[in-house]
Amino acid sequence: MIKLADQPTIQLTRDQIEFYHNEGYLVLDKLVDEDEVDRMREVYDRLFESQAGRNNGGFFDLGSRDEGDKPALPQMMNPSRYAPEIEQFTFRAAAAQIARQLQGPLSYFRQDLAICKPPGSKAHTPWHQDAGYNDPAFDYDNINFWVPLQPATLENGCLQFIPKSHLQKDILPHHRMNHDPKIEAIECEQVDLDKAVACPLPPGGCTIHHARTLHYAGPNSTDQPRRAYILEFEVPPHKRDKPQDFPWNHGRDTRRIRTYSTFSAKLSNKLFNLRKNAGKWFGAK
Ligand code: NI
Repeated sequence: MIKLADQPTIQLTRDQIEFYHNEGYLVLDKLVDEDEVDRMREVYDRLFESQAGRNNGGFFDLGSRDEGDKPALPQMMNPSRYAPEIEQFTFRAAAAQIARQLQGPLSYFRQDLAICKPPGSKAHTPWHQDAGYNDPAFDYDNINFWVPLQPATLENGCLQFIPKSHLQKDILPHHRMNHDPKIEAIECEQVDLDKAVACPLPPGGCTIHHARTLHYAGPNSTDQPRRAYILEFEVPPHKRDKPQDFPWNHGRDTRRIRTYSTFSAKLSNKLFNLRKNAGKWFGAK
């Protein structure tokens, strides 16, 4: 088993904790040191170069039908599954410590992911609530840490939020991007753009947002990739009295879903989940 890096000590102030709960997001200028960002960037680029997870639904194009070999907006699920050295960096330990301050002692790591917006990419990440991807029978209080591995700016696609959009428990209406059931990304139909707040960040800083907070990232007009590493923490979700209906999931027919359903993908994902849960049950990482 890999040992997590020593616990860093980032203590949020009372104002920061209150701001997160009231507004649904928070900006921290520093989660990890820049030399660690440099080391992480090397691992990250290697993983994207090899398209790790392409055969089991773990690497896909978020913003198109994903028909070619080179996704326009590539997303990778569970990068630490393919590069376990990631767990030795302080990203996860630092985020876990902050997550506990925001979610309480039941907070646990759910997954990591990575979205790389290539240089000059016109693809935007549509306005959405992350919980719109989850099970509509439950309410989620998950939080996401979004960490750029170079500066994140308006020009390369930093995150933007609609403050307080997490306060209403019902998930807003969404549809698949371009109303196309073959596209993985979902898009919200009710966004008050006048309220949007853009959050530029230095490398190794982070934004933190709630699973219901509306967020968006613009295209990348620079000549460098915009690399984001994302960690998600969960507390046990609550079963809703009345499940919601997410019509955007009906008839979903993305390449990711089709890849998932193959025998070898199901088997490898099952083994991965068994290993992950065993770690959780026995208190190891
Ligand atoms: Ni999101």
